Amino acid sequence: MKALILVGGFGTRLRPLTLTLPKPLVEFANKPMILHQIEALAKAGVRDIVLAVNYRPEVMVSVLQQYEEKFNVKITFSVETEPLGTAGPLALAREILGKDESCFFVLNSDVICDYPFEQLVEFHKSHGGEGTIVVTKVEDPSKYGVVVNHTDSTKIERFVEKPQTFISNKINAGIYILNPTVLDRIELPMLPQLKPTSIEKEVFPFIAEDGQLHTFDLDGFWMDVGQPKDFLTGTCLYLSHLSKKHPEQLINPTLEYVHKGNVMIHPSAKIGKGCRIGPNVVVGPDAVIGDGVRLQRCVILEGAKVKDFAWVHSSIVGWHSSVGRWARLEGCSVLGDDVTIKDEIYVNGGSILPHKSIAVNITEPQIIM
Ligand code: GDD
Ligand code: MG
Repeated sequence: MKALILVGGFGTRLRPLTLTLPKPLVEFANKPMILHQIEALAKAGVRDIVLAVNYRPEVMVSVLQQYEEKFNVKITFSVETEPLGTAGPLALAREILGKDESCFFVLNSDVICDYPFEQLVEFHKSHGGEGTIVVTKVEDPSKYGVVVNHTDSTKIERFVEKPQTFISNKINAGIYILNPTVLDRIELPMLPQLKPTSIEKEVFPFIAEDGQLHTFDLDGFWMDVGQPKDFLTGTCLYLSHLSKKHPEQLINPTLEYVHKGNVMIHPSAKIGKGCRIGPNVVVGPDAVIGDGVRLQRCVILEGAKVKDFAWVHSSIVGWHSSVGRWARLEGCSVLGDDVTIKDEIYVNGGSILPHKSIAVNITEPQIIM
């Protein structure tokens, strides 16, 4: 089988982390975001994976090529010279996606769930339509693509991208399976007019109109982790999923320093004495956690240091950053790469760009450049 992952976009909403790494390579639960998808696709029997890239392809190529052998997949980079949006990249990869009559998966690279690829193929083949969209329900659908079904049917009546008024809380989860005929519905943008086209606005509404687009209800958790707040929420959901399905990937919750479970710590990380860690914490490779540290609902990325008696809550500590002794971080603070927070400093909702050193309190959410 074949799949295309939409990996472009500048990831601006996940700054300052995306100033250092493209969004799909930012580690989610200690693994590049996109690797969760590559692994699941490979497990479902996908052998041909196209990564549609328009931003810093060289970094992606060097990191991802190593996974071809590991997961027995062929990864092809389809590089756009100008961003082609969410539909253009499919037309650009036509040679691979349309090489035979079989259907292919399309994924947004920033969605995390228990990918239902095998059931999805089965369902897609059973209804015979041109496409199937995985859907889930959310409280606030305004920042997503919203779907309305025909009564008592999986057939989609309407697809509206980011509606201004409430239509339904059933949303596009960013995972599709499509027949190659869909490629005929997308125009390949040609020079000199390379403009982005949107699958959500320019393709789905029309397939739906023809009665060829169906929904597949997702079971369990789902999150678009493309912004810090959602990245943290997605981390909580994912850890809670692991605690039920793969507890061996988490730290034994009966350990003295683990508080309420759902804690993932890389084996190379060091944890000091008298810490209280959890619930919902990820500690990355080579991170160093001092004595008496309190970590709760947070992500500590590779090589970061949290010094003695610091307190980190609802925040992301970027690669090789350091949080000083007795410092306190909260309110969805995000430290970019190599940030230093001095001892005893308080940071509330600070988004701090790489290589900065912070020596005064940040009491209100703000970006520090
Ligand atoms: N190759 C390429 N080129 N990829 C792109 C481009 C581009 O020009 N623009 C965006 N992408 C990729 C992004 O990297 C992401 O993986 C995916 O396309 C969707 O873009 P986002 O910017 O994350 O869109 P969104 O989150 O606002 O909305 C989309 O996802 C929602 C689910 O999370 C839509 O598909 C919504 O309908 C959906 O509900
Ligand atoms: Mg997104």
